[in-house]
Amino acid sequence: MRTVPKFVIGNWKMQARHSYGLQLACDIARGIKEVPPPSFMHTVICPPFTQLAGVHDVLEKEGLNSDVFAMGAQDCYPAASGPFTGDISPQMLTALGARYVILGHSERRQNHGETNAVIRQKVKAATAAGITPIVCIGEHLAERNEGRAASILASQIEGSLTRGFRGIVAYEPVWAIGSGITPSHEELQRKLTLIRSLLPMRLMTDDIRVPVLYGGSVTSVQTPSIMSIKELDGVLVGSASLEAQSFLDIIRAATEATLPQSSS
Ligand code: 13P
Repeated sequence: MRTVPKFVIGNWKMQARHSYGLQLACDIARGIKEVPPPSFMHTVICPPFTQLAGVHDVLEKEGLNSDVFAMGAQDCYPAASGPFTGDISPQMLTALGARYVILGHSERRQNHGETNAVIRQKVKAATAAGITPIVCIGEHLAERNEGRAASILASQIEGSLTRGFRGIVAYEPVWAIGSGITPSHEELQRKLTLIRSLLPMRLMTDDIRVPVLYGGSVTSVQTPSIMSIKELDGVLVGSASLEAQSFLDIIRAATEATLPQSSS
């Protein structure tokens, strides 16, 4: 019997003040220690760059920097070092204890003009540095309404993932982010089936289950319905990860929804 890991990942974006971020990490860590989730449930928090060192210290102090509770970053540069003013390499992130990095978030695609090709370079650089990429894909509302979601997702998977990709994919429909709207269960199921069918072209094997997460207005209320989708392996949480109790509630809801199907 093999246990498929499940993920609850918090993306703090540019939203937590320094002292608040350290306290938040501490409160989440203590909540997890108080009621430890089963070992298949992996929690990751992704603070802004400036808080990585401090959050790492908190996790070390709480004895929690491990597979089941880890830290990630929100972006990286696609090279190990060089004259790139203002950029941060994946090696710099691993030196601070980051194990994951979010890449190709729609806010970076939109605000920084990141293309699939740039994201693929970042995936390559992160993987070479031993850091697990969490690659975000997702269609805009107009693309969905024009019936183009499938072709957008296909081109993002083909363009952003490396051949033989070994990381995490997060499906984040742009229209669901920060809107309070989540796709219906049926739509999410359809999209997940589609994404699972598209992935083998980049994974180069049918044998590996790359974790696929959902992100966009996730709260503990929708988590059971989201996690009941068999093809899904977790959630990427934005605003609800900025408050310890709401994030812990999501971890608990995801654990409860997964328990009956966790062994396969
Ligand atoms: P919200 O949960 O705030 O909608 O953000 C989702 C997201 O973008 C996570 O990466």
